[in-house]
Amino acid sequence: MEFMVDSERCVRCGACIQECPTGLLIMGDESPKKGRGGCILCGHCVAVCPTEAIDYDGTPRAQQVDLRDYKTLSAEEAELFLRSRRSVRQFSKKQVSKEEITRLLNVARMAPTSTNTQGVSYMVIQNPETIAKIRQHVTTWMESMSKLYAQMRIYYRTITLYEKTHNRDPLFHEAPTLVFALAPKRNFERGLESSHFCLSYAELFAPSLGLGTCWSGFAEYCGKVDYEPLVELLQIPDDKRIGGAIVVGYPTHTFRRAPERRPLEVTFDK
Ligand SMILES: Cc1cc2nc3c(=O)[nH]c(=O)nc-3n(C[C@H](O)[C@H](O)[C@H](O)COP(=O)(O)O)c2cc1C
Repeated sequence: MEFMVDSERCVRCGACIQECPTGLLIMGDESPKKGRGGCILCGHCVAVCPTEAIDYDGTPRAQQVDLRDYKTLSAEEAELFLRSRRSVRQFSKKQVSKEEITRLLNVARMAPTSTNTQGVSYMVIQNPETIAKIRQHVTTWMESMSKLYAQMRIYYRTITLYEKTHNRDPLFHEAPTLVFALAPKRNFERGLESSHFCLSYAELFAPSLGLGTCWSGFAEYCGKVDYEPLVELLQIPDDKRIGGAIVVGYPTHTFRRAPERRPLEVTFDK
């Protein structure tokens, strides 16, 4: 990969060197240059340069979004933005367009991942019959697990009771879209984390598109143990595994208040 510096523009501030997470960049006689080491393609060297002196074909400036006019949210706005996100469990029948889902997932993929490994892909299910089959597989898997694990017994009882009482789907909440995050099987622990970070970004971005989301933990748990009927149905590639699942749709209700959580627990060293 080629690292290009316009030495006439470079003010030798060293920001690119300081921000490079792997220490690859060093100061040369006129400007920064590649030293020894690797690159994780984070793009920081190009993104931080105050004079646009640096470009790198691994992370071209032309593909980076210009943030110079971006005004950071005030602390109050940011707090409300984060606190106003809710798990949505009531959706209108309106389908979410492919364009909107793509827009949502294009932001999801911007989430941080360990050493910038990224690697999360997505499977979007919108066919109601397929969603119903997935639900059936997940329910069957939960039933079988409930014979082995007390906690699963509680979950299984809860969802069957819910379904009986309300005559509604307790797994996917009758949402029109189900999104699976898939991560490489190799080093799956990391991929699982990455899937969660990416879906969390999707959850946070969704309300700005008028969308609501809810995690589907049981579909994830069933997928991440490679439950054969689910893997078969979805044709999950051999080298990938389900790392997370969310439902997406247009919410029926508006939340008027942001609930409190347990009190903050924190310690400081002094
Ligand atoms: C990993 C994960 C799995 C979850 N699984 C489910 C689920 O299977 N069904 C569901 O209704 N909610 C699920 N949730 C949503 C939580 O219940 C919800 O985040 C929590 O009650 C707090 O509510 P809030 O998201 O509205 O703040 C899950 C959340 C996470 C983070």
